[in-house]
This record gives sequence, C-alpha cells and structure tokens, in this order.
Amino acid sequence: MKPFLSAFLLLFLLLLHQSHFAKAGIGSSLASLFKSLNKEKVINWVNGKKPPKPEWDKEYLKYLKPDPKLPNLPLNKERKGFAPLKQYLSNFGYLPSSDSFNNTVDQQTLSAIKTFQESFNLPVTADIDNHTLKLISLPRCAVPDMDFNYSFTQNVSWPKAGHRWFRKTNLTYGFLPESEVQPSFTKVFKNAFTRWANATGFLNLTETTYDDADIKVGFYNFSDVLIGDLFGFSFITENPPSDVKTAEINLNGNMYWALPSEKGDLSAEDGVLDLESAAMHQIGHLLGFDHSFMNDSVMYPYILPSQERKVELSNSDKNNIKKQYANVDSGGGGCLGVPSITILLSLGFAYMFLMY
Ligand SMILES: *[C@@H]1O[C@H](CO)[C@@H](O)[C@H](O)[C@H]1NC(C)=O
Ligand SMILES: *[C@@H]1O[C@H](CO)[C@@H](O)[C@H](O)[C@H]1NC(C)=O
Ligand SMILES: *[C@@H]1O[C@H](CO)[C@@H](O)[C@H](O)[C@H]1NC(C)=O
Ligand SMILES: *[C@@H]1O[C@H](CO)[C@@H](O)[C@H](O)[C@H]1NC(C)=O
Ligand SMILES: *[C@@H]1O[C@H](CO)[C@@H](O)[C@H](O)[C@H]1NC(C)=O
Ligand SMILES: *[C@@H]1O[C@H](CO)[C@@H](O)[C@H](O)[C@H]1NC(C)=O
Ligand SMILES: *[C@@H]1O[C@H](CO)[C@@H](O)[C@H](O)[C@H]1NC(C)=O
Ligand SMILES: *[C@@H]1O[C@H](CO)[C@@H](O)[C@H](O)[C@H]1NC(C)=O
Ligand SMILES: *[C@@H]1O[C@H](CO)[C@@H](O)[C@H](O)[C@H]1NC(C)=O
Repeated sequence: MKPFLSAFLLLFLLLLHQSHFAKAGIGSSLASLFKSLNKEKVINWVNGKKPPKPEWDKEYLKYLKPDPKLPNLPLNKERKGFAPLKQYLSNFGYLPSSDSFNNTVDQQTLSAIKTFQESFNLPVTADIDNHTLKLISLPRCAVPDMDFNYSFTQNVSWPKAGHRWFRKTNLTYGFLPESEVQPSFTKVFKNAFTRWANATGFLNLTETTYDDADIKVGFYNFSDVLIGDLFGFSFITENPPSDVKTAEINLNGNMYWALPSEKGDLSAEDGVLDLESAAMHQIGHLLGFDHSFMNDSVMYPYILPSQERKVELSNSDKNNIKKQYANVDSGGGGCLGVPSITILLSLGFAYMFLMY
C-alpha cells in the first residue's frame, strides 16, 4: 500500500473513532448533551405497549473485562476500551472533559477510578475490577456526580447544590402537552412533588400549564444519544434579559415508565423504569440536591437491581434537607444556607457522606 494511502486510512479511522466517542460526550458539558439530543417529542409511550428490550450501548464495557493475567492496568500502555471509559468518567465529573480521549492508561485516569471507587464505597483498587464494572454497567442519571458548576452555557445550566434558581416558595410545575402525559402519570409526579414539599416544610408546589410552569416536565426521544442507558436529566434555563429562571425535567420516552401499581414488572435491564423514582430524583436535583453516594438515598445516581423503586426519602436525605433549607427565609432568593461547593470540597463532601 502506498504510504500516503495508509496514512489517509489511519486518519480516517482515527476521525471515525473520535466522532463515535465524541457523541457520547455529555456530563460536565450540558450544552453538548443538548446538541446530541433528538428533542423530537415522543407521544406513544403511554399506551401500555412495552417497547422492545433496549439495545444497551455497552461499548465502554466490551473490552474492559477484568483480566486475571493482567491484574493491574499497565501504566502508559494502551488498553482497549480505555478511551470510552475515560469519556464515561469525564461525563460524570471524575475526569476533566476533553475533545477526544485515547486508550493510553495514565495516572490521571487511575486516580479518577480511585475517586470513583472511594465515592461509591467500593474496594479501592484503582483498577478495573468486577465491582467497578458492575456499577458502571447500570443505568443512571445524566447529572454529573462532582466537579461541575452552576453556570450557564447557551442559556442552560446543571442544577447544583448550594444554588437556588427560584426566588419564591410558591412554585408551579406543568407537563409538555405533546407528550400526552396521562392523569395516572401526572398523579405520580404530583405525589413526588408533594413528598418533597412536605419534606422541605415550606415549598408549595402546584400544577399549572406547561408554558406558565416554573418546572416543565416532558418525555423526549433520546434515541440519538449514544449512551443508551441514560434515563433522564434535569437542568435550569435562563431567559435573558429577564433574571427569571425555569427548570426542566426531560425523561427518555423510549423507555417504558412503570406506574407504582406495576412495581412487580420493574427491570431496568429490560428498559422498564419506575416513574415515581425518576420523578423523586429529578425533582431533588431541581430543589438543590446533588447526587448522594449513600445507596439508600433517592439521590443515588444509579438504579441498583435491588432498588428499582425508591421513592421514600432516606434519613440521610432528610438530614441533607435540614442542612440545605435550615437558613432559608421564605421569599429570600440567592443562595441556600450552604456555601457553594468547590471541587475540593465536593470531594470532601463525598467522604463525609461515607462517614455518616
Ligand atoms: C493520549 O492522550 C494524552 C493526553 O490526554 C497524551 O499525553 C498522550 O501522549 C496520548 N497518547 C498517545 C499514544 O497518543
Ligand atoms: C469477574 O467476573 C467474571 C464473570 O462474572 C468472573 O469470571 C471473574 O472470575 C471475576 N473476576 C474476579 C477477579 O473476581
Ligand atoms: C467551576 O468553577 C470554578 C471556580 O469558578 C473553576 O475553577 C472550575 O474550573 C469550574 N469547573 C468546571 C468543571 O467548569
Ligand atoms: C438565550 O436566550 C435568549 C433570550 O431568550 C435568546 O435570544 C438566545 O438566542 C438564547 N441563546 C441560545 C444559545 O439559545
Ligand atoms: C403563596 O400563594 C398563596 C396563595 O396565592 C399566598 O397566600 C401566599 O402568600 C404565597 N406565599 C408566598 C411566600 O408568596
Ligand atoms: C404531605 O403531608 C400531608 C400533611 O401532613 C399528608 O396528608 C400527605 O399525605 C403528605 N403527602 C405525601 C406524599 O407525603
Ligand atoms: C400554594 O399555591 C397555590 C397556587 O399558587 C395557592 O392556591 C395556595 O394557596 C398555596 N398554598 C400555600 C400554603 O401557600
Ligand atoms: C426516535 O427517533 C428515531 C431516530 O430519529 C426514530 O427512528 C424513532 O422512530 C423515534 N421514536 C419515536 C417513538 O418517535
Ligand atoms: C448499600 O451500601 C451498604 C453500605 O456500604 C452495603 O452494605 C449494602 O450492601 C449496599 N446495598 C446495595 C443494595 O448495594
């Protein structure tokens, strides 16, 4: 083969490879998640017909089988599947984001794996082991776990603990009419909103129309997102020049969302998710709660197979609410009663949760 041709092919493959993984680039860059989303409205998810079992994208897991002959990740060597693993860790705040990740095993990624393991109370091996693989193969919320900011790019920001986007205590929510959200489903959300309102003690959450609502709920076609096991996310929108902000909960309409009465059928692996658990979790983000590493918390980012339905606030959640809302005078805007959490503190925060 002519040298220039092989160079061309190499370049082509490299680009193909990178664009493939770049599409999965979500997490700390909410704006890029937006771009990759197909916000086509999904209207046929409520009619009771379960969609076929989803084709999970486990690209990042394909090559990362723990290898007894290779117990430790070889530093500075290539390991197949490492680039998508780096992308994964970066999506959720464990590694800084990058336009393209390669397969080289580097110290920074090993530290990120270690932080991940410490945070989730897994054995700390700084290596790809079965415990770590098991967790990252589960469906999860798209909001990062750490190292992200409350800051607006293209008018959207992640919700973040320590920042209050709303200045009032009477808040409203509404459903995207095109999603054809049926009364049995809005009832589930109403319950979830009431549960949080009750727990905070001073928020009043009532339903209104989608256009007027402070919190807008809709189901969308997420099919263009490469990470197929993403079930939903929430974000804050600013509407300049007004300083009024609104919040949105976007759920993956390609999933089958189960009502509380269907809890016997729950199987995230088969694409059947509990609507009320997702509602509790996403509302939690919008009311100012980051992910919790306590596995009984409604703010735990993964859906554990034994906890497919989790709607009751745990003791750690309730303590967290007390801390967050302790100093809030009704009507006062701005920050909650916690200082904004910097990167270092948010790591410290993670350890704090583990020490409870
Ligand atoms: C992989 O990327 C890192 C930067 O993230 C770079 O330092 C390293 O040289 C790259 N390795 C290869 C083999 O390209
Ligand atoms: C990891 O899990 C695989 C499949 O379940 C098993 O074959 C392997 O022995 C496990 N490895 C370790 C180190 O436990
Ligand atoms: C978050 O904000 C801090 C302080 O402004 C900054 O140093 C840090 O780089 C930001 N982190 C991200 C992920 O944007
Ligand atoms: C942000 O919002 C303003 C006002 O609604 C709008 O003019 C502008 O185009 C928006 N920017 C983006 C990137 O959507
Ligand atoms: C909430 O709305 C009710 C009824 O409109 C009103 O009486 C109450 O003062 C409002 N609370 C706040 C904090 O604005
Ligand atoms: C909220 O609190 C009220 C009054 O204490 C109670 O009747 C209601 O059942 C609670 N709702 C939920 C969903 O916890
Ligand atoms: C809650 O808000 C609704 C609608 O704004 C209002 O009718 C109701 O009185 C409010 N309740 C409280 C306790 O403020
Ligand atoms: C979702 O989008 C994909 C590709 O754009 C399309 O093939 C599919 O029919 C859509 N699904 C629904 C339920 O609208
Ligand atoms: C939750 O965490 C506790 C403490 O780390 C552990 O003992 C328990 O097995 C975990 N539960 C599940 C379902 O993973």
